[in-house]
Amino acid sequence: MNSALEYLADNKAKAVDQLSAFLSIPSVSTDPAQKQQVDNCATWLFDHLEEIGFPKVTVFPTKGHPIVYAEDLAAGNGAPTILFYGHYDVQPADPIELWTSDPFTPSIRNGKIYARGATDDKGQVFAHIKAIEAMYKSGKPLPLNIKFLIEGEEEVGSKHLDSFVKENTTLLKCDAVVVSDSSMFAPGKPSLVYGLRGMAYLQLDVQGPNRDLHSGSFGGPVQNPINALAWILAALKDQSGNVMVPGFYDDVLEISKKELDQLLALGMSDERLKVDAGVTGLGGEKGFTSVEKLWTRPTLDVNGILGGFTGEGAKTVLPAKAMAKISMRLVPNQSHVDIAKKVEEFIGSMKIPGVKVTVTNLHGADPVLVPTDTEAMNAAVKALRDTFDTDVVFQREGGSIPVVLLFEKILNAPTVLMGFGLNNENAHSPDEHFDLQNFHFGSQAAVRFYTYFARSTPK
Ligand code: BES
Ligand code: MN
Ligand code: MN
Repeated sequence: MNSALEYLADNKAKAVDQLSAFLSIPSVSTDPAQKQQVDNCATWLFDHLEEIGFPKVTVFPTKGHPIVYAEDLAAGNGAPTILFYGHYDVQPADPIELWTSDPFTPSIRNGKIYARGATDDKGQVFAHIKAIEAMYKSGKPLPLNIKFLIEGEEEVGSKHLDSFVKENTTLLKCDAVVVSDSSMFAPGKPSLVYGLRGMAYLQLDVQGPNRDLHSGSFGGPVQNPINALAWILAALKDQSGNVMVPGFYDDVLEISKKELDQLLALGMSDERLKVDAGVTGLGGEKGFTSVEKLWTRPTLDVNGILGGFTGEGAKTVLPAKAMAKISMRLVPNQSHVDIAKKVEEFIGSMKIPGVKVTVTNLHGADPVLVPTDTEAMNAAVKALRDTFDTDVVFQREGGSIPVVLLFEKILNAPTVLMGFGLNNENAHSPDEHFDLQNFHFGSQAAVRFYTYFARSTPK
């Protein structure tokens, strides 16, 4: 292990250069115009995984973007197997004019690398790749079997990974899964995440007249689709943060007093939250703390809205249509299928005359809680403690990683969520970046994690 850690220490600059190349490929999964770039990114990963020494690397095509898979099973039946999961796809870069430097020309400033995907998730994936490379360079055989599964559709709901996992249970068979796609509690404070929220993502289209109309000649008797959309959105969530959809909270599991006390004791501060978010005040469900609002309560957000005249000056028009994208973050034991159905029924029941409302279900994921008392968790605690030289925080997260629940269910393997990002690194926002110190720490922690897990779990 020590020679692997030494190799990492001696090769930091090279690792950052290679990460830069990885980040230069605009693998935006939601944008059909970037399809070729997403493919190129999969090929780049394939080449790199072969180059560092994985004996078997495959790119699996899917109906969407390809899955990159690498394995080394030389340790054999006497050793445990870890499945690493991450994603090489990234969010769109817009609004591009708000970036200080080009999102796909990585730039290093103050020890941070700025690029789309830096913290979510290419930088974190690459930390693990460098860890395996270092273990190969130490000259000793890997002490455990390693499988790397890196997908290209996480940011669009992991649509095709579902069937891939179901159809490849033997290929993916493992003793534990490790994911680095979340944040640390705070700078210098590593955390293990044991809960993720789920997601229901819907698009609402409201169709009014068959073309834009003069708002004087037609406004009044003819319904305005933007007004109708506003009524719908306003009806979904009130100003106290309550989602008004009947039955929305039916399956919400109340958090135990003990767990809540533990989470509150972490000392998450509203002041820091405000600074990180760049706001002067907070909102949300009355009667709950920010910790609960973020990690243990469901919510509903409008992600975007489109309609009508938004150009310079004024144009008096009654627009033909309006559209909004809404997402709900779900918590145990809500089901995304059930919630999507309830929202559709609620919107249908509003029966707004003169417009046609269509609800399209874009994707969904169920919430997940992973066990904290596993050998893999213990190995992760020790790896993080030895790397960051401080105690590890156990926390939940507000974000979603759709495939984690599937690993628990289909592969029957416990997951470790060991993230090296920070919440203020602008994931999904302009000027996304990744602290290079945490990138290097991430590689070290990964080397330790793989080593300790191999030691603690002989077969
Ligand atoms: N890495 C995030 C998930 C995440 C965010 C975990 C914050 C922990 C803290 C992931 O790439 C992501 O953005 N997921 C999407 C999933 C969605 C498209 C189903 C999300 O949470 O919006
Ligand atoms: Mn991610
Ligand atoms: Mn993301």
